Amino acid sequence: MNSDPNRLEPFADEARARLQAALQRLLPDPATSASPRLAEAMRYAALNGGKRIRPMLVYAACRLAGGEPERADVAAVAVEAIHAYSLVHDDLPAMDDDDLRRGKPTCHRAFDEATAILAGDTLHTLAFDLLAGSGDYSDAARVAMVRVLCRAAGGTGMAAGQMLDMAAHGRLQDPAALERMHYLKTGRLITASLLLGYHAAERADADLEAALIAFGDAIGLAFQIQDDILDVTADTDQLGKPSRSDEKHGKSTFPALLGLDASRQRAQALCEQARAALDGYGAAARPLQQLADFIVQRTH
Ligand code: IPE
Ligand code: IPE
Ligand code: MG
Ligand code: MG
Ligand code: MG
Repeated sequence: MNSDPNRLEPFADEARARLQAALQRLLPDPATSASPRLAEAMRYAALNGGKRIRPMLVYAACRLAGGEPERADVAAVAVEAIHAYSLVHDDLPAMDDDDLRRGKPTCHRAFDEATAILAGDTLHTLAFDLLAGSGDYSDAARVAMVRVLCRAAGGTGMAAGQMLDMAAHGRLQDPAALERMHYLKTGRLITASLLLGYHAAERADADLEAALIAFGDAIGLAFQIQDDILDVTADTDQLGKPSRSDEKHGKSTFPALLGLDASRQRAQALCEQARAALDGYGAAARPLQQLADFIVQRTH
């Protein structure tokens, strides 16, 4: 394991570079867009840094399933576009009302609220347009990927989880309800990233698909627990987003309900559960297992 918890194997650098190039290519160009301002806001939201965990999961899963990295490019952009949209909307005054994201003003601060709402909407539809229209995948793979992403982003996934998050304002829930909310708002998109990588490879393997789901569900929940822990323990400079935002807004979080120690223990147990789900795949699973470690050890 790396001594620096924020450092990943070289594959991560390669994945990030591939994603960056694919985003540059596939995001709308303000010079040729019907609305240059809308395209600029979309690029601002998607190209302004970020850890790129979900795209890394897409590339790593595609590789584990036997696919070449270029097969994962469109899928990686699609999930990062959905993620970027979710952050733009999550930061809006009607939701978490945050002013800083990835060390820069949030999209609605850099532009305005209407532009941020529309940029989020358009990143959302772009994801499905890219998957549906890609020449890189068979018809069956494209349909499978669109469905995976729809279910993870919409009323059985992120949007439902965000709704529960908003409704839970100011009151704590029991741990099972909190886990359910975290799983929906964050976990589903993490598992979808792995499944997109799996489908991109187009090598059917039901055992691997099931193992990726087990890995993703565990690490996806751990991801949000660690996000909640960092909200309390890290400062704004380190995070690039406002520290203690959850407390300020009376959010229901793991540390608020269980305390920091129990939250850390739960995240670590989920990490071990995730790693174990891929034990049968030997060294080929190492990048994904390293990503699991990164998710619970990261400091931003
Ligand atoms: C933050 O996600 C929002 C959550 C779902 C917890 P990330 O921590 O992956 O944000 P970026 O992409 O690195 O900025
Ligand atoms: C957001 O959770 C999850 C999303 C679906 C965007 P948070 O509200 O905790 O994410 P941050 O801390 O603002 O990144
Ligand atoms: Mg939120
Ligand atoms: Mg937030
Ligand atoms: Mg948070």
